[in-house]
Amino acid sequence: MTNWAIELRNVSKRFPNPSGGEVIAVNHVSLQINDGEFFSLLGPSGCGKTTSLRMIAGFEMPSAGEILIHGKSVGHIPPFKRPVNTVFQHYALFPHMTVGQNVGFGLEMKGIAKAEIKQRVGEALEMVRLAGMESRKPKQLSGGQQQRVSVARALINRPEVLLLDEPLGALDLKLRKEMQLELKTLQREVGITFIYVTHDQEEALTMSDRIAVMNLGNVLQIGTPSEIYEHPEDKFVADFIGESNFLEAVVSELGQGTVEVDLGNGLKFQIMSKHSLTRGQKVTVAIRPEKLSIRPVGAAMAVESGSNQFSGRVDEIVYIGTDTHYDLHLPDGQRIRVREQNHSPSSRLLANVGDEVLVNFSQEAAQALVD
Ligand SMILES: Nc1ncnc2c1ncn2[C@@H]1O[C@H](COP(=O)(O)OP(=O)(O)OP(=O)(O)O)[C@@H](O)[C@H]1O
Ligand SMILES: [Mg+2]
Repeated sequence: MTNWAIELRNVSKRFPNPSGGEVIAVNHVSLQINDGEFFSLLGPSGCGKTTSLRMIAGFEMPSAGEILIHGKSVGHIPPFKRPVNTVFQHYALFPHMTVGQNVGFGLEMKGIAKAEIKQRVGEALEMVRLAGMESRKPKQLSGGQQQRVSVARALINRPEVLLLDEPLGALDLKLRKEMQLELKTLQREVGITFIYVTHDQEEALTMSDRIAVMNLGNVLQIGTPSEIYEHPEDKFVADFIGESNFLEAVVSELGQGTVEVDLGNGLKFQIMSKHSLTRGQKVTVAIRPEKLSIRPVGAAMAVESGSNQFSGRVDEIVYIGTDTHYDLHLPDGQRIRVREQNHSPSSRLLANVGDEVLVNFSQEAAQALVD
């Protein structure tokens, strides 16, 4: 017996392509979402996020595979009979109705008694911190408040799962960041499972318990924000989430949970690897810029065991307030970026353009990825 709120088993969705053939919008996706979890589908435009959500909601039928809600296959159960509700990007509130009427509309359609509607509208507005705003019209609210009305409208049906499709997409950056935290707090308070669609990696990292990273209809990796950020298992994931340096290398030795990779020109690194690799295999070494540190050649500093060191020359230095970026090239011409945090107000540059520097990183900081 499964305890998942939502389960997708090998789900695919193909659409006929108007110009011939077909579009594979979702390709053999399997995933399980826990009860009470804040789960995000993250990926670039066209990767199949909305289609996945619409299949869970019942607006689209899978071409293959099965969707289960609380362990029951939902097959041909129509949307309005599923214990889910959707908040869309373009929150179509009825402009001529008050906030209270908008929120209570669904209950009114179901023929629920006026007194109960009034009470539930009040509760739903309280949840989204809009208590007392019942009689305003949508245009008398800010964008963020309007979006909260649409969340209240979805919550009033007491769904077990709330589906949110880029609900903050129309808001400006500052408001979006506020709403991200508000929605996360709300989700924790009401304890409903949220499935949240976004193409914004920072938004997904900020809000989610777990994230599924999608590209071209495929789920590439599922994990907590830190698993996805610290241990990307795929080059697309490492590139799409945060920033990564990629260095081409060949596996030269196999150790216990570590491998030695050879970048050519006599440069070898010891790094961790979860993949089962073979000697001679081509890999891409991914390292986040902030996991690297630099110092001038000749500066006395012991290299700890378990860390790697190499030299590079500084091409460009960019000060961005919180950090300074040093763009370097290695002796073989491969380029990398180092990000140094500016700890103190008087943080001085660690090198100048044209300087040769030593770069250091620990074994755990790099991933060996296979294509
Ligand atoms: N009804 C349809 N008919 C044909 N193709 C479709 C249909 N709906 C979606 N697609 C295609 O399926 C793919 C996935 O679309 P989907 O809307 O799920 O992407 P998305 O990840 O939500 O993108 P976005 O971030 O832009 O909203 C796209 O290539 C899209 O063009
Ligand atoms: Mg979409």
